[in-house]
Formats: sequence, C-alpha cells, structure tokens
Amino acid sequence: MFLTNKRSKLKMEQKNPETGKRKKVRILEKVVITGIADKGKAVGRDAEGQIVFVENAAPGDVVDVKVHKEKSGYSEGVTIKIHTYSEERTQPFCQHFNLCGGCRWQHITYPAQLKHKQLQIESTFKHLAKVPVGEWQPILGCIENTYYRNKIEFTFSNKRWLTHEEVNSNISNLEDVLGFHRPGAFDKILNVEKCWLQPDPSNEIRNTIREICIEQNLSFYDMKLHRGFMRHLLMRITTLGEIMLILSVKENREERIHKLLSAIQARLPQITTIIYCINPKLNDYILDLPMVTFSGKGYVEEMLGDVRFQIGPKSFFQTNTKQAERLFDTVADFCEFNGTENVYDLYTGIGSIALYIAHKVSHVVGIEEIGPAIEDAKDNAARNGLTNTTFYAGDVKDILTHEFAEKHGKPDVLITDPPRAGMHDKVVKMLLQLEAPKLIYVSCNPATQARDLALLHEKYDVVKVRPVDMFPHTHHVENVALLHLRTSS
Ligand SMILES: C[S@@+](CC[C@H](N)C(=O)[O-])C[C@H]1O[C@@H](n2cnc3c(N)ncnc32)[C@H](O)[C@@H]1O
Repeated sequence: MFLTNKRSKLKMEQKNPETGKRKKVRILEKVVITGIADKGKAVGRDAEGQIVFVENAAPGDVVDVKVHKEKSGYSEGVTIKIHTYSEERTQPFCQHFNLCGGCRWQHITYPAQLKHKQLQIESTFKHLAKVPVGEWQPILGCIENTYYRNKIEFTFSNKRWLTHEEVNSNISNLEDVLGFHRPGAFDKILNVEKCWLQPDPSNEIRNTIREICIEQNLSFYDMKLHRGFMRHLLMRITTLGEIMLILSVKENREERIHKLLSAIQARLPQITTIIYCINPKLNDYILDLPMVTFSGKGYVEEMLGDVRFQIGPKSFFQTNTKQAERLFDTVADFCEFNGTENVYDLYTGIGSIALYIAHKVSHVVGIEEIGPAIEDAKDNAARNGLTNTTFYAGDVKDILTHEFAEKHGKPDVLITDPPRAGMHDKVVKMLLQLEAPKLIYVSCNPATQARDLALLHEKYDVVKVRPVDMFPHTHHVENVALLHLRTSS
C-alpha cells in the first residue's frame, strides 16, 4: 500500500469474496486515535479533522483505517495497519478475539480499560446529566478479570461463521456449531472452542454437549429456514460449585429429549440440575416459556456475603458474583445505615440488594416485575431467616403509589437499580413526590442514569459517584450514585 508521511486518504479496489464484484474502499491513513467513544469504539480524526470511529484500535495508536460507513460529519471503519502502538495496548489472550462479539477490549490493558470507563462516565454526566457531582470516587476494578461470569448462553446453528480467508478458499459454512452470534450476522454462529468468561468446567460442558448432539444425529437450528432441533444452551455455574443447564429445543419430542439429557447427565455428572424448554418461536428468547426440570432441584444456589440465594431458571442474578458483592458493599457504604432505616429496593430481581442489606436496616420493601423472581426473593428471605423484608411483583410504575407509601411507610433510603432503559418518567415523578432523604441509583447504562439524574436534580443533589467494573474487556460499566434530598426543597 502507498503511504505518505502525513495523514492522508486513498481509495483501493477490493473484491467481494461472495459476489466476486470489485468495489472501491476508502482507506484513511495514519489516523491518530485519541480516545474511546460511546459503545466502546476507539475514536480519532482523519486528515480533514473529521471524526472516525475505529474498531480494534487503542487510544494512542496511529492506524490506517478501512472505512465501511460514511456519514456527514463522521465515518466508521476498522484498523488494517498499526503505525504506532499505544502504550495502552496489550496482547489479546483469546483465540476468538475479533471474531467473537464479546471481550472486545482485550487489546487494551486492564488499568487503561478502567481509566476509559471512568472517563466515559464522567463525560456522560458532564454532557447529559449536566448536574454538579460532589465527589467522584475512583472506579472499582475486578480482582479477577477472566472467568468472572456465572452465566453464559450459546446458540446452536447449522452454519458456521467463516473468516474472510476461509470464504476466499471456498470452504463450506455448513457445519454444526455451538457458540456465539457474530455481531451483524444473525444466522451464522462462531464455533467456540475456548471461552474465557465462565470458570471450569464451562468449556468442557459446552464442547461435550456439542459432541453428544452430533453423535445422536440431532439437527442444529437453521436460523434462516427455521428448521432444526437444537436451539440454545444457558449455563450457570456458582461459586458453591453448582451447575444449572437450560437447553431449548424446537419440538416436544420426549424420547429424543430424554435420550439427549440422559447422555449429558451421564457424561457430565458435575451438572447439578438440567432444565429444558420447547421453543417453537422464531426468536431465541426463552424466559416466556414453561421450564421443565429433567434432573436435580431446578435451581442453583449462590452466596453473596452471608446470604444464600436460590436462583431459578428465569431469575435475573448479577452475572459477576464476586464483583456483585463489592457493588452491594459500595451501595451499603454510600447509605451509611444506622439500623433504623425503612428502605425501598426498586427493580429488586430476586431481592439481591434487599436481602444483602436487610441485616443492616429496620425493613426493606422490594419491587420487581418478574413474578418467579419475587417468589425466589421471598423463598430466599425465609431460607436466610430474614423476617424484615416484603416483596411485590409488578411494574414499579404501577406498584409504587402514594397508597403503597402509606402502607409501607415513607422510605428513609430508596435504592433503584433499573434495566438499561432507566426509570419510567412516572417512576421519576413518584420519587420526587416521595422525597426519600437518601437515594441510591445503581445503573448499567450511564446515559439513561444521567437523563434520570437530570430530572431528579429538581430536588436532589448528587453527592458521590463510584463506577464499578462488572464486565472486564468490554465497554460496559456499572455506576453507583448517591443523591441527597436538598433540605430547602
Ligand atoms: C439491573 S436488574 C437489577 C436486579 C437487582 N437489583 C440485582 O442487583 O440483582 C433490573 C431488574 O429490573 C426488573 N425490571 C425491569 N423493568 C421493570 C419494571 N418496569 N418494573 C419492575 N421491575 C422491572 C428486571 O426484571 C430486573 O430484575
């Protein structure tokens, strides 16, 4: 390729391996990468000062970029050559790096990842929340940044995702695989040999199940034609050594299912419970389907602090167990409980935060929309001998009313941990009317958290913020904010 000393652009012809047609691609040379933008892509500027979002680059790199999208004011592309290596770069550890959609920051050192997560939240607050923050605390990084997930999901497919080189050498993609969806390729799956996300024996279990399915001649799902028996595998491994497997298959063929699950149980006796569901739908979503327990107790158990949790197949549970404890400790530290507080825990899941803090307060009321999760929360309270908790199933926007507050008493501390979309406008308005003196907002999406904090600023000051890294090697970050009711309001 022709290179100049100054940053420049040039056009190259490239052959599309699938159609054989040639098309012009634009190459931006010597783009200086200056930071990380929203959604985790590296960002720099081209020779004309236009913004370029770049995959596989690290802040401090100087790279050539093959452009795949051009819009007015910015372009997007992928690194094809590195001229200067950033000091923040490191060698990715996974054989599937770049092919798989997960762990996309492996090429950036862990301390640099943490730095960029902190900067991202500070910038989101500055530009979206636009409210003063009393104190920024440093991000809490993970002690272990591999094998940190307790839950992982894989998809069965009869089509393997091929690399460009494989496409060029005319290899067929018809192969029974079990692995991850490739971003942007809904019907092709990357066959996973070794994944660094879930502890042992996760890799052995996934690879053995693939083998057993092939031995038993079970068809793997074809996402375009909606044919094939084997669809989806979810595995949860807890720190107590319990393993839950949920398999989804397309049709209720009892004999076939029992033969398969019996073989899995015999070859992988470390699995403590096997559950299955029948999914005839066009999509992979299984939480709306009835679950059948084939073996074991139908749930797994996990410890967070001193509390033992029962986690059913449909329950939300923090995926990074060890870091969840540190997240909840941060929440408890921010609350500075004195033992007399009446606490509301909104979006409580299986009551994780509510039960974790119950022994430090007078009473906790949890609200969660998924009924089975609330059943788990109640069971978990009873199993742990916690008698000062109450749980309600339903949408927070419908349950949290003035009548509810009259019944349960005004909250001294209100903890909210909504999904990525943040809180419904009606919930924010209700919080402003309830006027809890302390409000803790835990969020996995700084943008929606910033939006909600801007609305809450009518009566609340943001006293402290601490990001917590739950997902190393990804751009995702959790954030905890402490708000105090303004005394003059
Ligand atoms: C980020 S999780 C937090 C769960 C819990 N605090 C924990 O740490 O395990 C958000 C939870 O909100 C629940 N949820 C989502 N939308 C809801 C709504 N409108 N009303 C009540 N719960 C909702 C989800 O089912 C999920 O359990």
